[in-house]
Amino acid sequence: MANVKNDLFLRAINGESVERPPVWLMRQAGRILPQYRAIRGSLSGFKELLARTDLAAEVTVQPVDELGVDAAIIFSDILVIPECMGLDYNMVEKRGPLFEKVISCGQDVKNLRYGKSAAEELEYVFDAIRRTKVLLEDRVPLIGFSGAPWTLLAYMVEGSGSKTFSKAKKFLYQEEALAHEALSVITETIIEYLKLKIENGVNAIQIFDSWAGILTPDLYDNFALPYIKRICEAIDSVPTIVFAKGAWFSFDKLGSLPCNALGVDWTIDPQWAKNKAPSKVLQGNLDPCFLYAPEDEIVAKTKDMIKTFGGSHIANLGHGVYPDTPLKAVKTFVNTVKSCKYGS
Ligand code: CP3
Repeated sequence: MANVKNDLFLRAINGESVERPPVWLMRQAGRILPQYRAIRGSLSGFKELLARTDLAAEVTVQPVDELGVDAAIIFSDILVIPECMGLDYNMVEKRGPLFEKVISCGQDVKNLRYGKSAAEELEYVFDAIRRTKVLLEDRVPLIGFSGAPWTLLAYMVEGSGSKTFSKAKKFLYQEEALAHEALSVITETIIEYLKLKIENGVNAIQIFDSWAGILTPDLYDNFALPYIKRICEAIDSVPTIVFAKGAWFSFDKLGSLPCNALGVDWTIDPQWAKNKAPSKVLQGNLDPCFLYAPEDEIVAKTKDMIKTFGGSHIANLGHGVYPDTPLKAVKTFVNTVKSCKYGS
């Protein structure tokens, strides 16, 4: 196991019994922190922050210093993979990502760069990881991540964010063979990218399938699960977390993946999740909006969540923390988890 001073997260994800659940937050490196907003405000945009590896490392470490979380997650984005495969995007203020080119036909898939040579284009991410490791001084483990193949394909076909991703789903129904061809090369690229992240120092991996919940169970079986499985099989040197948001309908199948932990969103009852995936460590699942509730309710709800999971648990929210969440509420959540002890 990696040599870090606070190894609670690594012990928990490896299934060891621990004194309390470790805690971190998805999107902890970001706009909830005034320190992040100050750095971000001094730059031309989000992508400049990704490219400025000294600053990317700094914002990765900010939540460790400010919130006292048990793990850091490298500041980056899932969309670096489409970019290295040849689909460039802009992050438009208040709107989100907008791609210059999308996948719509066979030639578009053929034109994609993929595999190790594409992943190696992301040297700035690996440099940010190395710099983060220096700043962290082995205080806590560093989580690396990738989007899941389906979620990345969804952006690569849709060309932007969407409530329904109906264009991307249409592609699955009308261009099944092409969709599989694209998912295969995306998967190959993700695997090479994650291996390079691990070589450069990350201690665990999370796969974000943020748009899992818009698929039907059949579509999820066909276009998502087999590719996530390939990734989990290829990554055997560090523990892995699969977070398929909204995919309660496939939770038992997710429970059979060769990963260590599953993310649980706030729509899922922890006890139900434990029954469906008994061999997995579970991560989650407080509703991010609960952090707008009064302080005493946050304390009570967080304690209640820890009790219900009852062990084999990594405390987190059920999705990324919203940018306008009061910092005080985030600290209350983290400190409440840290004050808990199993069995008392
Ligand atoms: O702290 C962390 O979790 C690490 C950093 C991180 C970011 N994005 C930084 C970011 C991580 C893990 C991601 C993953 C990501 N990116 C996902 C999967 C997780 C999820 O929330 O489901 C997705 C779907 C994306 C794509 C993406 N990136 C969108 C749709 C947007 C725009 C919406 C928004 O929140 O503004 C981003 C931008 C982005 N990625 C920001 C941050 C901090 C905000 C940009 C800014 O500071 O201007």
